[in-house]
Amino acid sequence: MKIVETIADMKRIRQQIVEPVGFVPTMGYLHEGHLSLVRWARLENPSVVVSIFVNPTQFGPQEDIDRYPCDPQRDLALLEKEGTDIVFMPPVAEMYPQQFSSWVEVGEVTDRLEGASRPGHFRGVSTVVAKLFNIVQPTRAYFGQKDAQQVIVIKKMVADLDMNLEVIILPTVREPDGLAMSSRNTYLNPEERQAALVLYQALTLAQQLWSQGEKDTEKLRREMLTLIQEQPLASIDYVSIANAETLDELDVVNLPALVSLAVIIGKTRLIDNVVLG
Ligand code: PAF
Repeated sequence: MKIVETIADMKRIRQQIVEPVGFVPTMGYLHEGHLSLVRWARLENPSVVVSIFVNPTQFGPQEDIDRYPCDPQRDLALLEKEGTDIVFMPPVAEMYPQQFSSWVEVGEVTDRLEGASRPGHFRGVSTVVAKLFNIVQPTRAYFGQKDAQQVIVIKKMVADLDMNLEVIILPTVREPDGLAMSSRNTYLNPEERQAALVLYQALTLAQQLWSQGEKDTEKLRREMLTLIQEQPLASIDYVSIANAETLDELDVVNLPALVSLAVIIGKTRLIDNVVLG
């Protein structure tokens, strides 16, 4: 496994590896969710590149990037075990030199949900992902459904800007009790970890009510809100039932619908979602 730290080296090595190239962009502190993407990339491509880059431009001024968990040695050992060919881990100054001033903005779909709560977040995500795609030139790039809006934004960017790659989305990987895997789960103390189950419980409730015939999104949302409000450590950022492509909020469940939520447990903001239909 090669570890590459500069853009020039990454571009040079890219010319020498066998096509097709599978790419998994990450911010490190890898868990089973990331590793499932790497495994899938490994199955579908003779060459697998993983990036580890904690992207400062997707963190807001109130969000503590220095608190973001990081353990590169552990990440590298995990990636080696999965048969990764190349790990691209550039320093911040390599990706954002002082004179950097160009940004990718994906428009309307970035204004809602995560975009409304985290202004500028998707501008940072789309810019860094566009840069990584230009540097790595993947045939296929792999993302997790856990970040549902990120997936929509990246697919839109790839389509709108005619980027020459396939975006592949894989299911959210969950702990045995249902909590979606996330690097941020490490912030939770044992009591908060238990309380965090409320996200999955609320999504499961919506899924159950919908499969029993409830189509009124206001009623579904109300049931979810009531359940979450019973958890004293939880405070709700949003609960949304929206068109799974445009993210327009729905009055009646039309398929496919994305049920998504952001809930703060203690001081940790967690997101999760399910797709109906
Ligand atoms: O999902 C993530 O880990 C990040 O948003 C990504 C796609 C690696 C961009 O920094």
